[in-house]
Amino acid sequence: MFETILSTEVAVALLLLVTWWIAGYLVGRLAFRRTGGRLRFTAWSGLVVLGLAGSLVVARVATTQQLWSFGWLFAQDRVTLALPLLLLPAGAVVLFSVPRLWRLARSPVEDRRAKVDAAGRSAASDPLLVVPVQATAIGATLGAYLAFFPPGPPSTGMGLALWTPLIVATAALWVRQRRRCRELSRPEARMGPGLGVRLLWAIAGVLVLSVGLTAWFVWSTQASTLPDRFSMMAHEADYGGGPEVGHGTGTGHARGGNHAGHGDDGQAVSVTELTGPHTGDPDRRFTLTAQESQIQLSSGETVDAWTFDGQSPGPDLRVRQGDLVEVTLVNELSEAGVTIHWHGIDVPNAEDGVAGVTQDAVQPGETYTYRFRADQVGTYWYHSHQASSEQVEKGLFGAFVVEPREPEPEGLKDITVTAHTWETSDGPVAAIGSSDTLEGRAVAPGTPVRLRLLNTDNFPIKFDLAGTAFRVAAIDGTDVNAPTDLTGQTVKVPAGGRYDLTFTMPETPVELSLDYGEFGGKARAGMLLSHDGKGEAPAAGNDSEFDPTTYGSPEPAPFGPSSSFDREFVQVFDSRPGFYDEQFNILWTINGEVFPDTPMLMVQEGDLVKTTFVNRSPLDHSMHLHGHHMLVLSRNGEPATGSPWWTDTLNVAPGESYEVAFKADNPGVWMDHCHNLDHATVGMMLHLSYEGVTTPFEVGDATDNHPE
Ligand code: C2O
Ligand code: CU
Repeated sequence: MFETILSTEVAVALLLLVTWWIAGYLVGRLAFRRTGGRLRFTAWSGLVVLGLAGSLVVARVATTQQLWSFGWLFAQDRVTLALPLLLLPAGAVVLFSVPRLWRLARSPVEDRRAKVDAAGRSAASDPLLVVPVQATAIGATLGAYLAFFPPGPPSTGMGLALWTPLIVATAALWVRQRRRCRELSRPEARMGPGLGVRLLWAIAGVLVLSVGLTAWFVWSTQASTLPDRFSMMAHEADYGGGPEVGHGTGTGHARGGNHAGHGDDGQAVSVTELTGPHTGDPDRRFTLTAQESQIQLSSGETVDAWTFDGQSPGPDLRVRQGDLVEVTLVNELSEAGVTIHWHGIDVPNAEDGVAGVTQDAVQPGETYTYRFRADQVGTYWYHSHQASSEQVEKGLFGAFVVEPREPEPEGLKDITVTAHTWETSDGPVAAIGSSDTLEGRAVAPGTPVRLRLLNTDNFPIKFDLAGTAFRVAAIDGTDVNAPTDLTGQTVKVPAGGRYDLTFTMPETPVELSLDYGEFGGKARAGMLLSHDGKGEAPAAGNDSEFDPTTYGSPEPAPFGPSSSFDREFVQVFDSRPGFYDEQFNILWTINGEVFPDTPMLMVQEGDLVKTTFVNRSPLDHSMHLHGHHMLVLSRNGEPATGSPWWTDTLNVAPGESYEVAFKADNPGVWMDHCHNLDHATVGMMLHLSYEGVTTPFEVGDATDNHPE
């Protein structure tokens, strides 16, 4: 639905451009018609084209209104920028051009072959007839540009940049047309340039246009070049309406430079100081070795993977709540640097494992040790955050489970379901772990089962559980309050997200299946649970989608929709064609920008922060904030009414908007990006930065740090 409106809008914007240019051309030629018959004919043609062009204006208003029905932020730039550029000149067309054109079209001609006299030429070249139509053509051109390249939040500067060409061009057209009218009104007027001259003008026009376009092309390619090395600190800051704060002294402001001086107290902390406990014997100690290995899928297919410990998914790391965990990363890859990011675990910043932000990528032959206390119970995962779009896809990830201190149900069957799509010689193959076929598991009836669904892919996956009622016990690691039984509901897990499903094993088989929808359809991979691991579950018949905003029961949360927020950020997602680091791509923009031009969200420790996500683009974006958990306040303007929904990875579907809130209680520099890592790698990321925190690390080709 939303996607249809978007594509209709683009089509309408293009048609507007074409029809208004034709209309502009026709009315411009009126005065040069030699005979009364031809003049009338052209006037009629002009009216017909204007009728069409006018109905397209109505269509443009209608698509805007439809977008608006999704929320003001979906239509804001249309209403404040694109529509006025179109409606104002089009209004002048209705007031001035149409009546004049109508008079010309209806003027009686006795002899159709008779030459048009001076009065006729004067009426046909009236600037009030011609210029409004041509000005609307320019307005429609600017509108088409905006439809293809959606801007960030509208600003006065943007308005000026759009209105200036319209006003200047209109003035120039007016001067030209006035002169023309004066000349043509003389009885002995020359009838304007011949075909040859006009052709030359047209060629010149095309040349100027192509030179302009080429220059723009070259310029935007160049402008998209990423610097060889740059700091995360070197960004425009967004203070979310709160007080302006800085990083503290010693920061390298490569651009802007305007954030120093506010709130700087000279006590800058480096992210390297924000570590987990340095001392004390760890409760759990792991070593993960990154290496190139071949893995075999259950279908027999082999994949050249990058693995931890020769397997992918890497080993399930299971710890108990409160454990001090120490993980040593050993890099045995032949060329690439790696890191480990603990996705969803709010570790101290120095342990967050983001190349170029919290550490340098660990080079082949090197090791690196992470230490943190695992305080949050639940399902998490770990993955490399160096060239992550490539390295996660190749297999450098695994599940990380924090088990509660209190005893779990007797005999619990706890299964991690790690969905991943492998690039094989036969194209992409969806699997659960390395099983790309239906995998049978023997589970005795009566056994409590917990399925920890984890989506390591770039798109949301719909999980269907057939043959039993089940509960969504946890989302992104956090328990749902008072979950109730569900049947026939599909559970959509965002890219990077985790949902835990629980049920008691029935007498009859249960089957878990995966559906990638438009991104790959139903997977062959699945899981069948029964007393002997064989059998067939009833068809899923899942039609409705599980809705976390209404599931479970409310319970007190530390903040909510009526809290007063210290800062409020808005992130609007659009898409447009463009260049990223000199490569042509579809770009997924945040407030009209891609990294590193996306803003840096600045907060102070203790701030209560609200963020609004608005997805105006045609694809899902799974927004992952490092180091914090966000509480969902509302979706599409409807308040969340179920159990508090805490998330670290929130899927924002096309046409959706969410309001979330989090407490700035974990100082550092934190990535905030789309977990469709192919989007992140072309700039769909930004970061959250605390007052007084700096990072000595840099990203860029000269550093070998590429977090995305
Ligand atoms: Cu799972 Cu920034 O990533
Ligand atoms: Cu995305």
